[in-house]
Amino acid sequence: MSRTGSHIVLIGFMGSGKSTIGRLLAERLECPLLDMDEIITEREKMSITDIFEKKGEHYFRKIESQVLQEALNSHEPSVISTGGGAPCHLGGMAYILRKSDSFYLKVGRDRLLQRIVGDRSRPLVKNKTKQELQQFIHETLKKRETIYKRANHIVAAFDRPERIAERLIKRSHKKKV
Ligand code: S3P
Repeated sequence: MSRTGSHIVLIGFMGSGKSTIGRLLAERLECPLLDMDEIITEREKMSITDIFEKKGEHYFRKIESQVLQEALNSHEPSVISTGGGAPCHLGGMAYILRKSDSFYLKVGRDRLLQRIVGDRSRPLVKNKTKQELQQFIHETLKKRETIYKRANHIVAAFDRPERIAERLIKRSHKKKV
């Protein structure tokens, strides 16, 4: 099944499954996958953690915003897997809404905590105790969710990735206006 029309953009908190589901979707739809964190890592020749540590979050957000805009302006319809903060900085969500069919992968706080606790590859998480992380998820999700919820579709994403991808494909044909 190949894809015509707009890009599909996946948004959601760290650990919500954007990269895994993005990969499955791109395979099923036979279209390119643009994974923003991978593109940033390749472009900067540095891990996301090193970019945060050596150049700072502000620098990361600028690159992230550029990569998002480039991905959304690319001609071939693609699946774009964003970083958890991409819609929430430098007008990212407005751009996503203008240029794509967007899906918020919604996962509960406890599940997010289980998935990202002890993760050394995510700079915003890596030095936090379980309790600190619980607090961080609570506060950050509260702020971000008002933005995430502006997506064209909100999808409960605690099922098997294959089933979630299947549901997304069905819903991608019914864009809410
Ligand atoms: C971030 C999420 C990460 C990555 C960076 C910042 C965030 O991506 O872009 O560590 O601000 O939520 P994932 O959502 O893919 O983990």
